Amino acid sequence: MALAPSESLEWSLPVPSVQELAIQKLDKVPLRYVRDDLDQTTPSNPSLRVPLIDMNKLVNPEFHEKELQKLHFACQEWGVFQIINHGVFDESLSKMRQQVQEFFDLPLRQKKRWAQKPGSLEGYGQAFVTSEEQKLEWNDMIFLKTLPLQDRSLNFWPENPHEFRKTLESYSEDMRNVAVSIVTFITMGLGLEAQKFGDTYKEGMYQIRMNCYPPCPEPERVIGLNPHADISGITLLLECGDMPGLQVLKDEHWVNVEPVDGAIVVNLGHVMEIISNGNYKAPDHRAVVNNSKQRLSIVTFCYPNSSVDIGPAEKLIKSGSPPVYRTLTNAEYFHSFNNRKLEDSFIDSLKI
Ligand code: OGA
Ligand code: NI
Repeated sequence: MALAPSESLEWSLPVPSVQELAIQKLDKVPLRYVRDDLDQTTPSNPSLRVPLIDMNKLVNPEFHEKELQKLHFACQEWGVFQIINHGVFDESLSKMRQQVQEFFDLPLRQKKRWAQKPGSLEGYGQAFVTSEEQKLEWNDMIFLKTLPLQDRSLNFWPENPHEFRKTLESYSEDMRNVAVSIVTFITMGLGLEAQKFGDTYKEGMYQIRMNCYPPCPEPERVIGLNPHADISGITLLLECGDMPGLQVLKDEHWVNVEPVDGAIVVNLGHVMEIISNGNYKAPDHRAVVNNSKQRLSIVTFCYPNSSVDIGPAEKLIKSGSPPVYRTLTNAEYFHSFNNRKLEDSFIDSLKI
């Protein structure tokens, strides 16, 4: 689509759909995707496994204490874990996977009806690109704000496949229930007023990013998603198949998060790191790609209610540890993020 010159200034430079590139069956990836600049020397550790938490055990008096210990350890040592028995029906998860798959399967022309627009992060597209030199990620995505209701911009919500909207709506409610419950247990592990913290996610903010990583002719020379930590409270990631791709940095090694049937991956974001006063860390993670199979992931960023200030929990401070982070209102937190210096670490800028 050609852009009027007046519009193009605000627009992220148009970049090709990676799915369309993958269809061409190239031998080599185009130069803009080659990431020989990335430090590929960080070793992998194929034998390590991300902790697995059974939510049935957390609610069962007989196993509660031991599983809570395990969760506390997972948050301290990893910042990421998988949960099973989370209470969301398999059929609901499958329905969501299927709708996302059908959306990415649509011809490009149709997906573009819900494309990102100037000045907005929402919609279908690729990473925001501001210069011709910028390296690109091997990923197409659609990003939508789903809760609270007043945050929705329905003009970016696909109407094709025809059950997409309805499914996304009910999926975000499912993810909200999971967030309320897992945040309650995470903050219980910290010795905080768990119910109070869990409740802030009842009217919380939920944003969903659906990622498509097509197969790539030179997977080890590209990156699906650059290493980053999430700025959410927690992030809930649903795999759509059995192809691994998510990696998390643990003790300076990249560890594969192997898909577990029916599980949801939980990773802590900066908001949780701040509340825990640095006891828990938001882990760096990234997505890698492969040369045989497309991978889809559905990622829900969960935040507390926007009226809640973001700062170290009072109880932790009163018990003697000095605050490591400043306390900000929700608006100040996002303002700091949106106006951060790209070369600086965001979380470090929030430290006292
Ligand atoms: C994200 C993310 C990882 C993945 O969208 O923030 O970390 O495997 N995604 O898709
Ligand atoms: Ni992430």
